[in-house]
Amino acid sequence: MKILVTGGVGYIGSHTVVELQQNGHEVVIVDNLSNSNIGVLDAIAKITGIKPEFENFDLADKTKTEDFFKCHSDIQGIIHFAAFKAVGESVNEPLMYYRNNLFSLVNILQSMKDNGVENLVFSSSCTVYGQPEKLPVSENAPVQKAESPYGNTKQISEEIIFDTVKASDIKGIAVRYFNPIGAHETAIIGELPLGVPNCLMPYITQTAIGIREQLSVFGDDYKTPDGTAIRDYIHVADLAKAHVIAVERMVKQKMKKDFEYFNLGTGNGYSVLEVIKSFEKVSGEKLNYKIVGRRAGDIEKVWADTNFANDELGWKAQQNIDEMTLSAWKWEQKLALNNK
Ligand code: UFG
Repeated sequence: MKILVTGGVGYIGSHTVVELQQNGHEVVIVDNLSNSNIGVLDAIAKITGIKPEFENFDLADKTKTEDFFKCHSDIQGIIHFAAFKAVGESVNEPLMYYRNNLFSLVNILQSMKDNGVENLVFSSSCTVYGQPEKLPVSENAPVQKAESPYGNTKQISEEIIFDTVKASDIKGIAVRYFNPIGAHETAIIGELPLGVPNCLMPYITQTAIGIREQLSVFGDDYKTPDGTAIRDYIHVADLAKAHVIAVERMVKQKMKKDFEYFNLGTGNGYSVLEVIKSFEKVSGEKLNYKIVGRRAGDIEKVWADTNFANDELGWKAQQNIDEMTLSAWKWEQKLALNNK
């Protein structure tokens, strides 16, 4: 199958490209490199032996998107990752987020319609559930008002796809990620945060390697066993595999509805302190951290009900928290070696 991966040079995108190629699919990547590094293309080729076809342009540009689809009308499925994703930045620059994340989706859907491309896997987030009343959270839980423009773009995007599916031959799968961490087992690709990381795992590994002085743990007064917030961390390679299954499910016409939603998590929640403990255990490093106040907009706890994804996709996340933190550490060590 020929699959378009937008944002395929980025963190989750690059791991998904590897899995697609290793499952025999032909990949074409569109990425404007706004938050990614062109060197990742060679890194992908180093793992799989195949350098994916690549085009550098902004999918929010309607004409360029149309021109691209005219030349690639044989695409059978699209996995759409390309989007801005920094929660804090989206609060300061909402229009930048709405323009980038929504215009690109509308352009892709329009081109799909015009060119008879029917299958779209959309990269969504558990952020749509806010702080769920019931845990684990299932796909049937209500979507709650978004805390940030970033979160809102995910909700609006799902609605745009829903409405388009109703009015056309297009089919959609929204995959709602929990917290992806870790890196490819080869340590050839991984997360490459630009500047100071917002997310926990790269902040931990950058502190341990000496790039950051100290990790701040945001809040220890949550109603959780150790007082720190709980998330469902999932290995990025497990997440990548789920995308391959989702796009194959669409192309092979195994969908039960024309628009489906899946939670992609492990079903296990770990607190910030538990993630730190796992990291210290697998790395043998003592992490310099201190407890500070809560971070605005953070929820207390969330983890996935994975039954639907497990049953319907025949997929289950395999890697445990120690495997995740170890792979993130190996990746950080590899980056440090490369930068010497
Ligand atoms: N944390 C710290 N210190 C840090 C960074 C994070 O203590 O330096 C804590 C956070 O407070 C949170 C946990 O670690 O309790 C995980 O934080 P991340 O920033 O790694 O992940 P989030 O759960 O906040 O973010 C995720 C996705 C976003 C999504 C968001 C919505 O990464 O894309 O959930 O809640 F928008």
